[in-house]
Amino acid sequence: MAQSSFLIVGVDGQIGDALWRYLKDGDGTYVTYGTSRRREHLADEMWFADLGVVGSSGAIPDAIAGWARDATFERKVAFLAAAVTGFDRCEGDPSGSRAVNVDAVRVLSSLFARHGVFTVLLSSSAVFDPHTASPLEDASPSPVSEYGRQKSQAEYMLLDALRSSPASGHAIVRLTKVVSAKQPLWSTWLNALREGQTIEAAEDLLLSPLSIRYVVESLLEIAHVRRPGTYHLSGESLTSYHEIATQLAVGLGYARSRVVPVRTSARTGVPLARAAALLGMAGTLVDIGIAPQPLANVISALCEPSPT
Ligand SMILES: NC(=O)c1ccc[n+]([C@@H]2O[C@H](COP(=O)([O-])OP(=O)(O)OC[C@H]3O[C@@H](n4cnc5c(N)ncnc54)[C@H](OP(=O)(O)O)[C@@H]3O)[C@@H](O)[C@H]2O)c1
Repeated sequence: MAQSSFLIVGVDGQIGDALWRYLKDGDGTYVTYGTSRRREHLADEMWFADLGVVGSSGAIPDAIAGWARDATFERKVAFLAAAVTGFDRCEGDPSGSRAVNVDAVRVLSSLFARHGVFTVLLSSSAVFDPHTASPLEDASPSPVSEYGRQKSQAEYMLLDALRSSPASGHAIVRLTKVVSAKQPLWSTWLNALREGQTIEAAEDLLLSPLSIRYVVESLLEIAHVRRPGTYHLSGESLTSYHEIATQLAVGLGYARSRVVPVRTSARTGVPLARAAALLGMAGTLVDIGIAPQPLANVISALCEPSPT
């Protein structure tokens, strides 16, 4: 039987790392390779790639080019998971971040399109103006931040690369906010609750959270179905940090009163561009069979002793 292969471009990030571990712990159906820009972290089946260099010079590392050309594999899927993800980092260094977030996507997706690789681009709800209520998959992007503009342009680059080789296929996957017990905010709150402390959480900051497992399994389902298109991964509703923290406390068996509501947005002046977003998923549900993630599932994942 001809083998299939995955390439994860960016195995050190939150999602790339989870995808890498999930596949490496799996049944080996897919031969999985990854890229990293941390030479000291390179392991077997992992190659060095600095996407800033790829984007600014157009030079593709030999290992990636060789994988794309490799005819041994009947089906190949590349996940573009590396990016400069911070709003501030994109605002502060627009050209450097653009080389990674936009130019490298153009270079790699052109290569993958030429060689029949199905390419999955991880994008963001930041491609929409936060005032847009639950935009659906076919809504026109309307970014209001440098990060959102770059993600929107990356989507365009992928589509443009595929115009000459439409048979190779692509998926643009826009996500809301991924939360995990490994992140500092959630691990601090979880530890404090477990130690009997009271925590403060904002009642005026909203998010539509996703668990990392939901994201990983959804990405793999999209890659498995291999139906070209734009997909959304979102929670079911917008929820305050206070409500989520309260449900966490209850989920761990503690009193709701252990979470004190505070108002922070007036104090911190959270810019509009970073306001929470909720994405509509009607098309993703019909085409792939993936529904929005219920908050209860996210809470359970955060409460797990050893989250993935
Ligand atoms: N997590 C979310 O809530 C969320 C929400 C919406 C969309 N997304 C999208 O999902 C994707 C993955 O997000 P994430 O949360 O996993 O991001 P992340 O944790 O910030 O990781 C991004 C990765 O990109 C790598 N990277 C940055 N510059 C690079 C360069 N020049 N060359 C090679 N690698 C480089 C980083 O490498 P180093 O580790 O070496 O710095 C890091 O490992 C991104 O496209 C993001 O826009 C994520």
